[in-house]
Amino acid sequence: MLEEVVATRYVTPLREGGSLPGIVEADDLGTYVMKFTGAGQGRKTLVAEVVCGLLGRRLGLRVPELVRIQLDPVIGLGEPDQEVQELLKASGGLNLGMDFLPGSLGFDPLAFEVGAAEAGRVVWFDALVNNVDRSWRNPNMLVWHGELWLIDHGATMIWQHNWRGAQAAAAKPYDASDHVLASFGPDLAAAAAELAPRVTEDLLTEVVAEVPEEWLVDEPGFESTAALRRAYVEVLLERAAVISDRITVGERTPDTPSQAPEWLSARLHRKAVK
Ligand SMILES: Nc1ncnc2c1ncn2[C@@H]1O[C@H](COP(=O)(O)OP(=O)(O)O)[C@@H](O)[C@H]1O
Ligand SMILES: [Mg+2]
Repeated sequence: MLEEVVATRYVTPLREGGSLPGIVEADDLGTYVMKFTGAGQGRKTLVAEVVCGLLGRRLGLRVPELVRIQLDPVIGLGEPDQEVQELLKASGGLNLGMDFLPGSLGFDPLAFEVGAAEAGRVVWFDALVNNVDRSWRNPNMLVWHGELWLIDHGATMIWQHNWRGAQAAAAKPYDASDHVLASFGPDLAAAAAELAPRVTEDLLTEVVAEVPEEWLVDEPGFESTAALRRAYVEVLLERAAVISDRITVGERTPDTPSQAPEWLSARLHRKAVK
C-alpha cells in the first residue's frame, strides 16, 4: 500500500504545467509535489498518476516515489493567491504526492544525451499507457543526479474517459513522432522484448490495487470499484500484447491545434503558446 503522510506546510505552487501542483512538506519530514483532487481535471488524473507511476517503477523506470497525502485545507490559509486558496479548499482529504527531487532540472534534449536502450524503454512504456504528454513541447521528465526521471502521468490512459470505447482504444497504434526521445534512436525492439513479458496480469492487478477506493467510486457503467479496477487491468494487459508492433516514429508534426478535448489540448500546447 502507498505510504500515507499528512501535509504540514504548503510551500509554493508549481506553475510550470497546467494543473497547479504545489510543493508541500509532510509529517514524515519529506517534501512532495502534491497533485490535488480538486484540480480541474479531476480524480482520473490522479488515478493515471498512480497506475502509470507505479507501473513505471515496477518496470524499472525512474519515477519518483508516490505517497498518499492527507490535506487539511487550513494549512493554506496564509496563501495569498486566490487560485491556490480555491484549490486547497476543494481538495480536503486524500491527495497524491510525488517525492520532490530537489535541484532537478527539466529535461532538455539538446543538453542531455539519452542512450537508445533507455529511450526505447521510455517510448515503449509511453506507448503502453498511451502517454500523449511527453513531447518535445513538454517533456515531463527531469534530470536529477545525472539521471533521467519520469514525472506527470496525468495525461495517459485516455480510454478511462470513455470506457465504452476502451476495448477499441487498447489496440490503437501509438505515434511517437512528437515524443521528446524520438530523436535519440529509441531501440523499441529491445524494449519490447524486455518489458512486454513483464507486464503480466498479476503485476497490473497489484498496481491497480494501489489506487485509493474513493477515486474510483460511482463510475457510470460499473457495478463496483472492483469491476472498474478489472477494466484498467484488462486494457493495459491487452495493450501490452499488441502495442510493440504498433509504435511509429516519424517526422515531427507541425504545431497545429489538435482534436484533443479542450483540457488536454491546453496541456499539450501550453509550451507552444507561451
Ligand atoms: N517530483 C518532482 N520534483 C521536482 N520538480 C517537480 C516534480 N514533479 C513536478 N515538478 C515540477 O513541477 C512541474 C509541474 O509538474 P507536473 O507533474 O508536470 O504537473 P502538470 O500537471 O501541472 O504539468 C514540472 O514541470 C516540474 O518542473
Ligand atoms: Mg506536466
